[in-house]
Amino acid sequence: MAIDRFVGSTYSQKLSSGSVSWQSPSNIALVKYWGKYGEQLPMNSSISFSLKNSHTNTTMFFEPKSSGEFEFKVFLDGKREASFEPKILKFFKRIEKYISFLRDYKFRIETSNSFPHSSGIASSASGMSALALCLVDMEHRLHSDPGGQPSLSEAEMQKASFLARLGSGSACRSLQGPIIVWGEHPEIEGSSNLYGTQYKFQVHEIFHNYQDTILLVDKGEKQVSSSIGHELMHNHPFAKQRFEQAGFNLSKLIPVLKNGDVTEFIKIIESEALSLHAMMMTSMPYFILMKPNTLEILNRIWAFREETGSKVCFTLDAGANVHVLYPEAEKGSVLNFISTELSQFCKNNEFIVDEVGFGAVKK
Ligand code: DP6
Repeated sequence: MAIDRFVGSTYSQKLSSGSVSWQSPSNIALVKYWGKYGEQLPMNSSISFSLKNSHTNTTMFFEPKSSGEFEFKVFLDGKREASFEPKILKFFKRIEKYISFLRDYKFRIETSNSFPHSSGIASSASGMSALALCLVDMEHRLHSDPGGQPSLSEAEMQKASFLARLGSGSACRSLQGPIIVWGEHPEIEGSSNLYGTQYKFQVHEIFHNYQDTILLVDKGEKQVSSSIGHELMHNHPFAKQRFEQAGFNLSKLIPVLKNGDVTEFIKIIESEALSLHAMMMTSMPYFILMKPNTLEILNRIWAFREETGSKVCFTLDAGANVHVLYPEAEKGSVLNFISTELSQFCKNNEFIVDEVGFGAVKK
């Protein structure tokens, strides 16, 4: 089976105490993942831009111990964050068959995000990616001779993406950049349900430094988590059509990314965002994650585009925040529009200026 190659080997040697650090980016999906089956496998293919400024830094300190229970503590910005620990424990249990040394070390996981914790930006994608990279990096050290190749191979990066997916689906798109595909798609060779892969087709230069300004509309705890949302796609009346639609949208995006047709890009991206939220509104139970200010912003983006001919557009995640996407050439005018017209609809007028980035870095 395809997953057999990720099964962890046994290790004869043990590392002495040490640490490993990785920085992983957040990502924003253009075609959305919403609906999963089995062990974190997506019901449809998705594609995302990796971001440059929004990221998680994780340092994992390890100390050998005799085998037994899992032993670890998690710290956020230097303070113990016990509320993260059940999720990490679940992750460790799930990946144990792929990383067999987890019980042989005591870990101290120190993590921090470049964006405020309460911003409503999910840190699970960047966080799980950074953690998976730390673990694969440890495994790399266990296998290599001192003085061997320090960087991770393509196969090791793939394993890290495979593990990150088991922590949070969209995390498997948060290792490399600038554009990542996850989920089998007939037109994308090498695409897999098991891990994210770099988008290998030609990409027009307009997308090389595409801008994403994240408007922080609502920073509170989401009223419905993504995991419940995914769950509600089972027996959803429009699930089949939605999964097909995502596949078609990804097919339509391939020539658009190549020829730089931003008008067509906007249609696909905005329709994807609204289809995602339409799934939430038509599930049972139904729910709405957009806030009045989210809608106000969408309407103002449409009006601005109409009045000025700008190519600005939006996408949404499973929350109220708005990702404003636009070509770099429009940065001055769009940032001015955001500051003068849109930031009033954000909590404390806050927004994060970001753009397409190139993936995780070892620290
Ligand atoms: C709306 O990856 O957070 O952001 O696999 O349950 O951890 P889990 O879900 P998660 O879902 C993200 C969904 C989305 C769309 C996307 O990023 O593709």
